[in-house]
Amino acid sequence: MERTKEGFLYMGFLLRMLEEQPFRLLVRTIVKRLPLGVRTYERWDAVDRPQYLTGMLTAADLAREGGIDSIYVAEFGVARGHGLLAMQSYAQLIEKETGVSLKVVGFDTGSGLPPARGDFRDHPDKWAEGDYPMDEAWLRARLLPGSELILGDVRQTVPEFMKRQVCPLGFLAMDLDFYSSTKQALEILRLPNRQMLRRVFLYFDDIFLTENHRFAGERLAIEEFNSESEFVKIDRWYSLCGRIFRDLRWVQQMYVAHDLAAINNFHSKRAVQIV
Ligand SMILES: C[S@@+](CC[C@H](N)C(=O)[O-])C[C@H]1O[C@@H](n2cnc3c(N)ncnc32)[C@H](O)[C@@H]1O
Repeated sequence: MERTKEGFLYMGFLLRMLEEQPFRLLVRTIVKRLPLGVRTYERWDAVDRPQYLTGMLTAADLAREGGIDSIYVAEFGVARGHGLLAMQSYAQLIEKETGVSLKVVGFDTGSGLPPARGDFRDHPDKWAEGDYPMDEAWLRARLLPGSELILGDVRQTVPEFMKRQVCPLGFLAMDLDFYSSTKQALEILRLPNRQMLRRVFLYFDDIFLTENHRFAGERLAIEEFNSESEFVKIDRWYSLCGRIFRDLRWVQQMYVAHDLAAINNFHSKRAVQIV
């Protein structure tokens, strides 16, 4: 009995060592090459876009906990579509693991960046109209039947989409570059007819560029969202500081939109915890 307990202690110590700096890159390389489960890939950042996988898997777990059988995961700003295709492949793995269906949606103009809307807030010194065009035929040929590509300015497509939404949002990857576009897209979490899990997981792609500051770009869109939105607030996803690769930049690009009104009405039914 004691020996078994000791064995567990040694094994725990060994596993913790493997997560330390000198070994973790090697372990990740091995994990990437082995046919392991999606939770192991997520834990070890063993995919091209760990920010998408972590946001999507956490959203699916939250949905399952609340008895919700399907959610949307969306990319705002698709361009060639490499992110959307990654999202689609992770969705399949997560569905198998959790039983929750993940509806993949991509929003884009289809023709690259629209004209900047006026001033420094869209970083006109950084982006140019037409940047990041899409090859629509190439991308559509690779989308699975359940995945959706919604083309047009988010100013119009977001309110239209909300009218026909069939399940709550769970994860959003924000990569529209402009303050003005991001502000419009975030309305999906603010309008009274919003449908979202009580926590929606968010990734913001453009908050660590040299040009970024909190008076422009995605950072300003987040600040304004919080001052204008009464019931939903966006803040950093703090618990990611416990990850194995916690020092990677994407960890600091993850946020959570908390639906305070929904949380007010949600009371946990689980058994009492004992420490
Ligand atoms: C940097 S690219 C996205 C890259 C993509 N997420 C990836 O990882 O490969 C930014 C995209 O945002 C789109 N975009 C910017 N403003 C938009 C708007 N108002 N409505 C729709 N799409 C917009 C542009 O068309 C452009 O393709």
